[in-house]
Amino acid sequence: MPVGSDIDRIWDRIATLGDAARATPIAGLFSDDANRVADFSASLDDLTLDFSKTTINRQALAALFDLAGAAGLASFRDRMFAGAEINPTEHRAALHVALRAPDGAALTASLGGKTEDASGYVTAQRTRMRQFVAAVHDGRILGATGLPLTDVLNIGIGGSDLGPRMVCEALTLVGPTHLRPHFLSNVDGHAFAALARTLDPARTLVLVASKTFTTQETMTNAHAARAWIAASLGQAAGGVHFAAMSTNAAATAAFGIAPDRVFGFRDWVGGRYSVWSPIGLSVALAAGWDAFQAMLDGGHAMDEHFLTAPMAANLPVLLALVGIWNVNAMGSRTHCVLAYDRRLQRFPAFLQQLEMESNGKSVLLDGTLSPRQTGPVLFGEPGTDAQHSFMQLVHQGTQHVPVDFLLAAVPDHDRPEAHQILAAHAFAQAEALLAGKDLATVRIEMERAGASPAEIAAGAPHRVFSGNRPSNMILFRRLDAFTLGRLIALYEHKVAVQGCIWRIDSFDQWGVELGKVLAGRLLPDLINGTATASHDPSTTALIARFRTLRGQD
Ligand code: F6P
Repeated sequence: MPVGSDIDRIWDRIATLGDAARATPIAGLFSDDANRVADFSASLDDLTLDFSKTTINRQALAALFDLAGAAGLASFRDRMFAGAEINPTEHRAALHVALRAPDGAALTASLGGKTEDASGYVTAQRTRMRQFVAAVHDGRILGATGLPLTDVLNIGIGGSDLGPRMVCEALTLVGPTHLRPHFLSNVDGHAFAALARTLDPARTLVLVASKTFTTQETMTNAHAARAWIAASLGQAAGGVHFAAMSTNAAATAAFGIAPDRVFGFRDWVGGRYSVWSPIGLSVALAAGWDAFQAMLDGGHAMDEHFLTAPMAANLPVLLALVGIWNVNAMGSRTHCVLAYDRRLQRFPAFLQQLEMESNGKSVLLDGTLSPRQTGPVLFGEPGTDAQHSFMQLVHQGTQHVPVDFLLAAVPDHDRPEAHQILAAHAFAQAEALLAGKDLATVRIEMERAGASPAEIAAGAPHRVFSGNRPSNMILFRRLDAFTLGRLIALYEHKVAVQGCIWRIDSFDQWGVELGKVLAGRLLPDLINGTATASHDPSTTALIARFRTLRGQD
């Protein structure tokens, strides 16, 4: 294992290479290197990552591999799969890979110095989930009045919402929809009011999804849903219309959900990594067990690839290293994800939690401040919608925003011409970011269009595209459940690789705690109008103004 100064030397080398790369057009990298496309791409079957449209050259790539080696990436990865305590600030393993491993995988997790049979636990819960889903689908489980359950309402937030919500949306059109899925995350009462308008309590199955079963937003909404069911169907109906997914059996029991309606998972499943766990029950209910299982299989296929593929052909490693290069060598502070697939419209939101909650850290594992930038701000929208909103800045703004394009070659609709247009836009955007358009070309175009010299002088600079803006292309055959599983796991492992290299704990989320505590302290002041001394003057004044606007004072 190299000592700190060796790693520092590699970081210095990367910084120097970054300075040189900034002065080298990406287009020139292609003309200098006939094998660039092949050597700056990697595939897992039909799933290809092409990172040749970045500023990374061969020397930079070699330095990035050295960095991964010096950071002990292979041993970190192996410790993760071995269920070691790789989340030290919470004293937990991060063994979400066990959730998608096949039955009998024999993975174990370290828990408080003891070793747990993770695979055995997962298999038992998965079997219970499958049986429950089958019973709902074939009508053995009905609503309290004997009507079939047609709608499933998942109440959860963060990882207990974003994953299942994104997957349910992505899998529409791929297979049958058994139950219509709905998601309630925000404590904003408007959200529940809108859902309650459209849902029939007699036909709705409510899933309370919460790892801790203490999250204020989720519990507030769960109580509202319970009152809604009770008001329409009577108190006893709750037993029929509710199920829960949680690690906290005592709290689910206290809420009144019978143990046979509680699907468990363990502390070594982080919220943002939990869609593979019982938290994905809404996916299995809506899209069917086969789709849920196919997603697990896809995730597992990516796990096997991550474990066994050489670093130079390893998709999560490459995606992570490209990201590190963009942030630490090229100075990018943002990252844009453009899925040219309407079904992936919630994918950026899912990735925001995955990437920003995992790697939005400034303190290293040893407790010192990070000497370098860590996770970038991630945002995105589906293409082509994004082209008509923020892509102006990505093409001509003052900062370079690296982009991941995602595209399926084969659509799941019957209008191939529309898909060709969509794909043309995806490739064209990446091409435009790379090539740009220089002033001389703009002038010629304007001249040919009949512009006067004065118009050209005034208008040409605004039409110039600097180009040289980096992007990755992630191309695959179809967006089915298997590929969706591969994509989610690809980004999960990307995040873990980056966390290992940045030497941060990617599996904790202490940064969300302070706001929760202060909201708890603030609430009584809002309700009672008491001004505790602990607020800053601005907050005190805003509370008073809020109460006045509500007619409370
Ligand atoms: O916002 C912090 C967080 O703990 C997330 O990490 C988590 O996904 C979310 O809250 C929901 O937590 P729970 O599933 O325990 O309700």
